[in-house]
Amino acid sequence: MRILLFTGKGGVGKSTLAAATACRSAAAGHRTLVLSTDAAHSLADALDVPATAEPTEAAPNLWVQHVDAQERFERSWRDIQGYLLSVLDVAGVDPVAAEELTVIPGAEEVLALLEVRAQARTGEWHVLVVDCAPTAETLRLLALPEALGWYMTRVLPVERRVVKALKPVLTRAAGVPMPGDSVFDAIERLHAELDDVRTVLTGPDTSVRLVLTPEAVVLAEARRAYTFLTLFGYSVDSAVVNRVFPEGGADEWRAAWVEAQRRVLDDAADSFAGLDLRTSLYRPSEPVGREELLDLARTVYADTDPLACGAERVPLEVRSTEGGLVLAMPLPLADRDDVRLARKGDELVVGVGSYRRLLTLPSGVARRRVAGARVHQGELQVRFADTSMDEESP
Ligand SMILES: Nc1ncnc2c1ncn2[C@@H]1O[C@H](COP(=O)(O)OP(=O)(O)OP(=O)(O)O)[C@@H](O)[C@H]1O
Ligand SMILES: [Mg+2]
Repeated sequence: MRILLFTGKGGVGKSTLAAATACRSAAAGHRTLVLSTDAAHSLADALDVPATAEPTEAAPNLWVQHVDAQERFERSWRDIQGYLLSVLDVAGVDPVAAEELTVIPGAEEVLALLEVRAQARTGEWHVLVVDCAPTAETLRLLALPEALGWYMTRVLPVERRVVKALKPVLTRAAGVPMPGDSVFDAIERLHAELDDVRTVLTGPDTSVRLVLTPEAVVLAEARRAYTFLTLFGYSVDSAVVNRVFPEGGADEWRAAWVEAQRRVLDDAADSFAGLDLRTSLYRPSEPVGREELLDLARTVYADTDPLACGAERVPLEVRSTEGGLVLAMPLPLADRDDVRLARKGDELVVGVGSYRRLLTLPSGVARRRVAGARVHQGELQVRFADTSMDEESP
């Protein structure tokens, strides 16, 4: 199975390109599901079909689904929320305010991704095309399972035991309800599911495609997305520059735009040198319906296979060099001044801008001291000392 995720800044054409790619995949005979995690119905609008919360056949081999995140969200969150509400109630928080406090902004998007995983695990589809939310949101949220992993494996089991032991005493003394087993179960279940979402979305069959328009600010965001997605272990294989003005025509306004876009296109070619870079022309009307979308797909992919992986996958690896063992991690377009490292036991915290990834070090270097690091040719290289941390004097 192949999974393609389309992401990018708001309004650049994610839904349109996801729909076009899915139409082309279906036309080539692959059983394809195109799925939107967005509450707006733009995917169905682009395909000119009604939006449905379950996969619905829109054309031969083509199914469309708009995930109803609210419903899924409520199912998974209810137990946890119930507990939080009872705590807030004891604390004297107004019930309406408490209700609002227990809603995590953006959580719906994460839970929509649960549906992506569920569909991926059905084994029914050859191809899954996902129309994601705008860049920053999705990025931040996709890091959640891993960030929670530490808490889940170390803190939660202990907490659960402690709470069990102290429950009778504490409930009586403080009047604060202790979380029951169902709360812990709900947290654990949600975590296991989210963890599996990550496994699916960072797996060898999944690629992320960045959609952008030829404007400097949009390119800047797409570059950041490329860095952050790679940081979190997602494999970006292609970038599509959409809504490029066709050349020709005499009018000055258009000539100026064509020239401005050409400069951004040159920058995009430099930025995404390692990726399959595609362009899609600004069409004279909104591409709506299967025929239009297939036509758009033809201009984007020409006669290449839209499912082909557009870039080599570069895994995280430990290399043995003259200077010692080096952990190399792809980190394209990262500025060295933006990268921060911190050590936390056998984990390494890699920060880029406002994003942080908690990386479990491979066993070969887990006990070694970090001797140096640099960002070189799109890679973060962390050098380790020969001595283990245990051998060192404090
Ligand atoms: N190549 C194109 N030529 C002309 N119009 C286009 C092109 N690509 C997209 N559009 C139009 O631009 C608008 C935005 O496209 P689309 O809905 O696909 O963007 P999006 O990135 O999914 O937006 P959102 O962030 O709101 O989900 C739509 O009206 C769409 O029909
Ligand atoms: Mg959209």
